[in-house]
Amino acid sequence: MALRVIFTKKLLRSGFHPQPTSQIVLSRGLQTFSLPDLSYDYGALEPAISGEIMQLHHQKHHQAYVTNYNKALEQLHEAISKGDSATVAKLQSAIKFDGGGHINHSIFWKNLTPISEGGGEPPKGSLGWAIDTDFGSLDALVKKISTEGAALQGSGWVWLALDKELKKLVVETTPNQDPLVTKGASLVPLLGIDVWEHAYYLQYKNVRPDYLKNIWKVINWKYANEIYEKESS
Ligand SMILES: [Fe+2]
Repeated sequence: MALRVIFTKKLLRSGFHPQPTSQIVLSRGLQTFSLPDLSYDYGALEPAISGEIMQLHHQKHHQAYVTNYNKALEQLHEAISKGDSATVAKLQSAIKFDGGGHINHSIFWKNLTPISEGGGEPPKGSLGWAIDTDFGSLDALVKKISTEGAALQGSGWVWLALDKELKKLVVETTPNQDPLVTKGASLVPLLGIDVWEHAYYLQYKNVRPDYLKNIWKVINWKYANEIYEKESS
């Protein structure tokens, strides 16, 4: 993901003249994040997901998470430099929500690809074997993910993950924008499906199961297989 480095100019603007120890803090800088480009056009996933949804989802929703995440990081940086523990603590929920939103959506875009680029093609290679071993078949896995995604109360995500400790595939859900790592440090996301209403409402209204039925037509199993092979070797 794209990164750019900014420095806390606020301290300098406020008349703060850094001494050698403070310069260490300043020289560390603050990494901020930017909206990643998609590798396909907004309309390229139709009819499974409409171009209107994709454009809003990427340009408005994901962008808002990025903007608010950067804002929270800048405030955190400032609070730490001032020794303001109350503000540091207060910022944790924004960092989890907006940082999680950025992490999750960055994965989600890679999990999708147009049918003409292989969207929906069953996984080849070792991921295909692992799915058969751990779930019985790809159809059984798709049914499990769709069922758990439909049953998730409120907003959240349903995941196919590799548990590196147990060395097996697992299906997990996370509420809100919690990233998968909050369910366990050994979990590597292979596939994450956004079940927030903003991901489907314009096209599927309130019928989340229909969205979860059609999204498989544009799932990028090749990408999931690449991550699986890299992380399981
Ligand atoms: Fe989303």
